[in-house]
Amino acid sequence: MSRNEKLVALVTGASSGIGLGIAQALLDHGYRVVGTSRSISKSKELKSSSDLVLVDGDAGKKETADKVAEAAVKHFGRIDLLVNNAGIFIAKAFTDYTEDDYNLVMNTNVASFFFMTQQVVPQMQKQKVGHVVNISAVLAEQPSGSAPALMAVLSKSPMPAVSRALALEYAASNIRFNTVSPGIINTPMHAGEDHEALAKFHPLARLGEISDIVDAVLYLQKATFVTGENIRVDGGVHAGRP
Ligand SMILES: NC(=O)c1ccc[n+]([C@@H]2O[C@H](COP(=O)([O-])OP(=O)(O)OC[C@H]3O[C@@H](n4cnc5c(N)ncnc54)[C@H](OP(=O)(O)O)[C@@H]3O)[C@@H](O)[C@H]2O)c1
Repeated sequence: MSRNEKLVALVTGASSGIGLGIAQALLDHGYRVVGTSRSISKSKELKSSSDLVLVDGDAGKKETADKVAEAAVKHFGRIDLLVNNAGIFIAKAFTDYTEDDYNLVMNTNVASFFFMTQQVVPQMQKQKVGHVVNISAVLAEQPSGSAPALMAVLSKSPMPAVSRALALEYAASNIRFNTVSPGIINTPMHAGEDHEALAKFHPLARLGEISDIVDAVLYLQKATFVTGENIRVDGGVHAGRP
């Protein structure tokens, strides 16, 4: 990469919440960004810029992953960072989940990781450098009996493991894989919910902010000796009850 070339990042679920915060922070840090979600071209949230390309599509479909990776290479010539952030959360009793719930959550939270990551790895191998951050959820390792959400556990708990596996598989290509596991973060995902009650889920007794997750992603991006790691940004939830 030449000295003046900018780093290029792909962010899924970049129209809202955590993904929007990460995409904007990367632009502010001088990255070129391809942002994607089902309807991101209608979103006015990201400041328009010649360093920003928007691609609409369902992140769980291979054709979207193809389009997003192609757009990055066509417009910006490389891919340095993929943030697999697109996700949905459906909380209900285990036996109330429908087949549609199952397919929707696994498509959005798991298939999106699979196809997007498959599409970026060959380009990162060519460059001999790259980094993939998978957004998981601390709920997957520290579930709550009083607020059941088995589909979140089922779809998010593999993320730290797949990050470790791919960190080893692609270490020789200098491609890093890490996970960020948020607690409950103040995003549109929890609009209209009782934030005081949600805050109590965390030993630090507050909701996480989008900036807390952005800071973890920016740290991992700088931390070139860190791979296969899972950073819990969860106000202490993973540690147990205070
Ligand atoms: N907020 C939390 O408390 C929390 C906690 C733990 C983990 N997380 C994880 O953090 C990530 C971001 O959550 P958030 O709170 O920022 O959620 P959010 O505000 O609801 O945003 C979700 C994003 O994902 C996109 N999306 C949803 N389904 C999609 C699909 N099939 N294909 C492509 N894009 C899709 C949405 O855009 P479109 O509607 O335009 O597609 C939106 O940009 C998720 O993976 C979530 O599981 C969040």
